Amino acid sequence: MCGIVGYIGPREAYPIIIEGLKRLEYRGYDSAGVALFDGTDLKVCKTKGKVVDLENKLPTNITNTGHIGIGHTRWATHGVPNDVNSHPHYSNSGNLVIIHNGIIENYEALKKELIKRGFTFQSDTDTEVLVNLIEDVKNKENVKLGKAVQIALNQVIGAYAIAVFDKTQPKEIVIARLGSPLAVGVGKDEFFIASDASPFLEYTKDAIYLEDEEMAIIRLNRDIKIRKIKDDSLVDPYVQTLKLNLEEIEKGGFDHFMLKEIYEQPRAITDTYRGRLNRQEAIIKMSSVEDNMKKFLNADRIIIVACGTSWHAGLVAEYIFEDLARIPVEVEYASEFRYRNPIITEKDVVIAISQSGETADTLAAIKLAKSKGAFVFGVCNVVGSSIARETDAGAYTHAGPEIGVASTKAFTTQITVLYLIALRLARAKGTISSSDFRHHLLELEMIPKKVEKVLESNEHIKYIADIYKDVHNFLYLGRGYNFPVALEGALKLKEISYIHAEGYPAAEMKHGPIALIDENMPIVVIATKKGHYEKVVSNIQEIKARKGKIIGIVTEGDVDVRELADHVIEVPETLESLSPLLTTIPLQLLSYHIAVLIGKNVDQPRNLAKSVTVE
Ligand code: M6R
Repeated sequence: MCGIVGYIGPREAYPIIIEGLKRLEYRGYDSAGVALFDGTDLKVCKTKGKVVDLENKLPTNITNTGHIGIGHTRWATHGVPNDVNSHPHYSNSGNLVIIHNGIIENYEALKKELIKRGFTFQSDTDTEVLVNLIEDVKNKENVKLGKAVQIALNQVIGAYAIAVFDKTQPKEIVIARLGSPLAVGVGKDEFFIASDASPFLEYTKDAIYLEDEEMAIIRLNRDIKIRKIKDDSLVDPYVQTLKLNLEEIEKGGFDHFMLKEIYEQPRAITDTYRGRLNRQEAIIKMSSVEDNMKKFLNADRIIIVACGTSWHAGLVAEYIFEDLARIPVEVEYASEFRYRNPIITEKDVVIAISQSGETADTLAAIKLAKSKGAFVFGVCNVVGSSIARETDAGAYTHAGPEIGVASTKAFTTQITVLYLIALRLARAKGTISSSDFRHHLLELEMIPKKVEKVLESNEHIKYIADIYKDVHNFLYLGRGYNFPVALEGALKLKEISYIHAEGYPAAEMKHGPIALIDENMPIVVIATKKGHYEKVVSNIQEIKARKGKIIGIVTEGDVDVRELADHVIEVPETLESLSPLLTTIPLQLLSYHIAVLIGKNVDQPRNLAKSVTVE
């Protein structure tokens, strides 16, 4: 959940590290810090707050020195966000510094031992324990830094991506990974270290992704040596050339990444089906599905595991798969699935959905499913991510980098991929006729244009946001395919505006939530023409009778809901099964505008991080 960055080479390290931290801030922004080696001395500066606070705190003389450095942006796990708990952390001698993303689960036991051996601690963090453990090993065993890191990590239980520097061996940085991502950018006589490739894309596109249980010693003007932490065997570095562009990870004229990403959805959805959907030939081509067709077709059921917004995409997929391909689907929170001794057999297909591909609970659920013999298929956005590599096969969403913490284009592109898979399986199983199949392909192809149309309502949605921006509670209601959209709308509002919101199946309203409704309660109701429309209109009547304020998401030209609702936002007509791709958009924009209007930090909401690499 933290971001780590490092540099070793002929350039000045500081600007690379500070800019890199800004790009990694989506991973956590409770505190930030750097350690820079100027050739003789090691300087550490750190602070509670964001990278910009760190920049303001840095003494000017730290900014012009050194070709080796490491930096960290933190999402707090052990210890409150304050200056002392910020990374980098020194060892007791002041010779070693460390940055860490992850959790050392047995840190308390290790700390007790170290205290017995005379070590003292300034912070409440597990990371300070780790750096002192490394120092203790180094002294006791009389070994160099790399070996000390290796021995120490073999005593550690937990997850980590770390970079360690020792001022007594100032020509190298040691890094290691287990469970948290770590990439090395390879330039000419220089190396960049980062949680993802964004900090070094402008310098090099050649990258090595460390695998779990690997460590590396990176030496100034020399090379990188990768080893397995457990058995010390050497690993051949696999250097891959990345296709990402820097422009893709910048704001491109929008005020916030979230807004940019909302507006990118027509392009992102097109990229997701491009090359896979061929309407002229009436086929869907996805090699990972074709290669594993038997597994899909013989599956007793599909189990979808995911968290947060990706879980909501999974819920939409449940409707899609059952409706089109007639395959039973169960959708599980990865965090519950992994701990509840689920019944999984070799005849189950597990689909893991994750934007980042790094979510710890989803990763653990995948490992559990694989250990029981299930075939695991991944739907990820980040290429080369841990989940993409851990699954047996998978399909990327091709949404492009999603930086805003609130997931938007990831959701709609995940649904698009899952829709393609469901359609392909439906065709193979014969649960859809050839003409219906063609019709679905045509309608799916038209979605990006229709999303563009919905985006034209932006100003109207902003106007509605202004009316309701000061309320304390919201309800979101939907039925069928649009019930998960109601959940997603409520999540979007909660996470960026901190306004309490609940999503419910519209019919469930009368089993409890109706008690909340009075003249102060805004209720967003997804009431598109094909989704049990009459039933939803009845629900709207019930709200109206209790004086609730109704914001209806309706099909273009709607009359009935318009008469009842306080506001309506129109979306173009489409198939009911595709409607979530349209009805989600106004809910994203509504949350965005409310959050901006009440002055919240939309891209970096409090307490959250983009990539949840801790359980
Ligand atoms: O990267 P993932 O899709 O696995 O992330 C899962 C959730 O952490 C994520 O969707 C989270 O709920 C978002 N902040 C929602 O906007």
